[in-house]
Amino acid sequence: MLDSQNTPPIIPPKLRPRPQSYPAAVKGILISEEELLARITALACVISQDYGNDEVVIVGILTGTIMFLADLTRRLSVPTQIDFVGISSYRDQTRAGQLEMIKKLNLELQNRRVLVVDDILDGGRTLQAVIKDVRSLNPQDLRTCVLLEKTVRRTPPIKADYVGFRIPDYFVVGYGLDYAERYRNLRSIGVLDETQIA
Ligand code: IMP
Ligand code: MG
Repeated sequence: MLDSQNTPPIIPPKLRPRPQSYPAAVKGILISEEELLARITALACVISQDYGNDEVVIVGILTGTIMFLADLTRRLSVPTQIDFVGISSYRDQTRAGQLEMIKKLNLELQNRRVLVVDDILDGGRTLQAVIKDVRSLNPQDLRTCVLLEKTVRRTPPIKADYVGFRIPDYFVVGYGLDYAERYRNLRSIGVLDETQIA
């Protein structure tokens, strides 16, 4: 059973001013660095309790998950192995394009406990594709964890087992998330000013 404390905070749509060092394409801040780390620490605690001493294979979805994966896994007390799968759906735009597999898994997943980690659950197609892929490798068990979940209706009705924050339907960047491969290195989660984009 999943832990009952696993209820994600809901982030209101109000933006805070961006730091001066941030690019003008970022309209404002939605989640600060401190808020991110506090929630990730709590999430890591819940995940550690749920898995106990079982070794878990963490499968990160490239590239947006890099910061989250680094901060989350360093806070886990469970033994882990880490692998990455590359799947890309956003091609230099804010709307979903074709799904493309750009890196395969290295580790054996048969009879393993697998936790798939992604940056954001939006339409759900990315997570759905990776779940299908991982299931075909016969893991002992499969759970999913996303840092952000947009509060939109999803077809397919995909849900993640562990969610960091529920956010409004903004296009967000920073802390791993990109627009056209940019802004991944920002320390907090900001909202992209779409009028800035050519
Ligand atoms: P989905 O397949 O529509 O759920 O989209 C999930 C993928 O699209 C994520 O792994 C992200 O890489 C990307 N994505 C979705 N929404 C955003 C966003 O607001 N900012 C940046 N990337 C996003
Ligand atoms: Mg992306």
